[in-house]
Amino acid sequence: MATSSWWASALCESVNNVKPLAVICGGEELVLFRNAEGQVFALEDRCPHRRVPLSLGCVVGSGLQCGYHGWTFDGASGACTVIPNLSASERVPQRHAARAFMAKESNGFVHVWVGDGEPGATLPSADYSPTGREYTGSAVVSMTHDEYLAVMLDGPNCLLSFDAVQMTDFFLGDPQLVNDRLVLDRGAVWSSQILPSQFVADYPLIVRTAVPLRGGTIRVDLLSQDETPLSTLFISASANRRGTTSLCWRGFQHTTSMAGAPLRWRASRTAGRAPFSVNATINGSAIAALLVAPSRDLHELRQQIVVEQRLAV
Ligand code: FES
Repeated sequence: MATSSWWASALCESVNNVKPLAVICGGEELVLFRNAEGQVFALEDRCPHRRVPLSLGCVVGSGLQCGYHGWTFDGASGACTVIPNLSASERVPQRHAARAFMAKESNGFVHVWVGDGEPGATLPSADYSPTGREYTGSAVVSMTHDEYLAVMLDGPNCLLSFDAVQMTDFFLGDPQLVNDRLVLDRGAVWSSQILPSQFVADYPLIVRTAVPLRGGTIRVDLLSQDETPLSTLFISASANRRGTTSLCWRGFQHTTSMAGAPLRWRASRTAGRAPFSVNATINGSAIAALLVAPSRDLHELRQQIVVEQRLAV
């Protein structure tokens, strides 16, 4: 279910001025690249001449040269600027233009506006100032995008883990709508704890999951009981082909000291190991066993947006 919005489509460092990057986001097949000055561009990944992927071509100045017959397309407008072997009396026909998309960078992600209407002025990840040690990664998971978002609310432990932490099924309140994300807190405990988590009355940790209603990034925070941030993770998720989902993430470790943290957690932080891991392989049995609970709200809110956007067209 694609909505008109800014989609976080790639990590900024994965887009360069040498090799174009093919991505799929918001249901569109795109190619991302930069010019020598670092400006980022997004075009449909399809040459208007013979439909060959433009990502097989190469970057030329602020444009992309198709690898098949060498036509060049401007990154900002998509206009065809060069066709090799034209005679002096021939001009490049204007109708041969690639579809161009607006692209902007914020907080380490390249965002692309996909859909109808004027691009929103504010990028979804602009509400965060990155701090702490940084960890990044990417994967394609065999799960649809809608399901990935739903499971992130119903059972995030099926999709990711925090080192030495056990997430529980205990919600700390109802899901809240905050800045276009559905936010849910659940209790968590250190995995070194002896009592089973269902007998714990007071959770020393909180896992806060914030799932976007449109585009943007999923945000997951590991917090202490008094809401001191220990780790923050942003995951860009978008529908890929054949029911799969592309992920790229950027996460931060905020502090290495935390009262009550087990030795394993402290030693790993001191050694600089990532405090979280995002699953590249999904356990189908675990997903199938999950109850559909908070994700019902997400589904309804996302449906509402689609209906509103259809009515606005
Ligand atoms: S297919 Fe791209 S220039 Fe011909």
